[in-house]
Amino acid sequence: MAHQAPARAGADQRERTADRELRRRATAVIPGGMYGHQSAGPLPPEYPQFMRNGRGARVWDADGNCYIDLMCSYGPVVLGHQHPKVEEAAKAQAELADCQNGPAPVMVDLAELLVATVRHADWAMLAKNGTDATTMCCTIARAQTGRSRILVARGAYHGAAPWCTPRPAGVTPQDRANLGYYTYNDLDSARQAAGEAGEDLAGVLVSPFKHDAGYDQELVDPGFARGLRELCDATGAALILDDVRCGFRLHLGSSWEPVGVDPDLSAWSKAIANGHPLAAVLGGDRFRDGARRVFVTGSFWFSAVPMAAAIATITALRDEGAIEAMQRAGTALRDGIVAQAAAWKLEVNYTGPVQMPYLTFVGDADHVLASVFAAEAVRHGAYVHPRHNWFVSAAMTPQDIDRVLAATDLAFAAVRERLDC
Ligand SMILES: Cc1ncc(COP(=O)(O)O)c(C=O)c1O
Repeated sequence: MAHQAPARAGADQRERTADRELRRRATAVIPGGMYGHQSAGPLPPEYPQFMRNGRGARVWDADGNCYIDLMCSYGPVVLGHQHPKVEEAAKAQAELADCQNGPAPVMVDLAELLVATVRHADWAMLAKNGTDATTMCCTIARAQTGRSRILVARGAYHGAAPWCTPRPAGVTPQDRANLGYYTYNDLDSARQAAGEAGEDLAGVLVSPFKHDAGYDQELVDPGFARGLRELCDATGAALILDDVRCGFRLHLGSSWEPVGVDPDLSAWSKAIANGHPLAAVLGGDRFRDGARRVFVTGSFWFSAVPMAAAIATITALRDEGAIEAMQRAGTALRDGIVAQAAAWKLEVNYTGPVQMPYLTFVGDADHVLASVFAAEAVRHGAYVHPRHNWFVSAAMTPQDIDRVLAATDLAFAAVRERLDC
């Protein structure tokens, strides 16, 4: 028998005064009031726009309301907020210096650690954001091969520069002129796009699994990954893995190491420094010369504090068994949520690796039910997202999972009620 609707909190009891006032002020001085992926504008009104602090798996909004964090800043927070060893390393480096006339010694330490940790890496370059890293990978592939065309999967997200932003405003056809398109997990479509590029194929850009926002996620078919590797070997193009979202959350190394496929170049950011701003491009020797010749830089790319944080993050990921901890927490979460959906007689798809799950309701093309679910979960203190995959951190305790499941049970009840009304 389906669950009976529990007593639901009627009105949203959470305080919203500070958030409302900040939104009002922001509207005057920030275009659109907020922009980018952290704009709460497209989310249900239950979502706060402004966040004040975080610790472990918990975050507090500007009004002091607490949530169990299942978005982890959209990926960067992998060990939990304010991980003591990471913050200690960052503070120690900050006391020396952050932004100087030359990089700090810690840059070489980090490059060595990345090369030792990631199987396909013979060298590392550092930057700030994931878009820097994916863009650099394409530039290096072009510099090395002397060719132009990069293949990308239709609908995949690789950043917010004009060549890859999903929104057309301000983008010219020329910005996209050197792209070709294939369908994720469809090797024939990649071969066809490579054939169309012919002698001009510089690289194939691919994410570790299909994680396009708003859609059920699809794990990579190992045959597809191997096929892309063979395609690149046969044509001399670079196989470029966009590990920005998955890197260091699925595996301590490239996310395709368990699949047995090594890229030529890889893009990293998000979890690499547990929330400190850093990105990396890693590559094999075959692309070292191209990497040496491109001019890529930024005023803050050599800041030492995030590099020190990255060393502490990667070390803690290894020493604290963080990947396994995320797998355990993610499995408990998945099992609990899937059982709740069944008990409420709701048909759902819960897709992706357990550390990066995404929940949809069957037939809910416009995310109406997903929004009812997410809004109710947020009202009851579980910060999930209706149109983006979630992120589990290694800081999630069994108590945190219990609190999330208490909130998601009420969220399923709200969906059931919506359907029954
Ligand atoms: C797969 C992937 N690539 C690239 C990016 C761009 O990273 P950033 O927002 O740091 O520029 C993202 C960001 O979400 C991403 O998920």
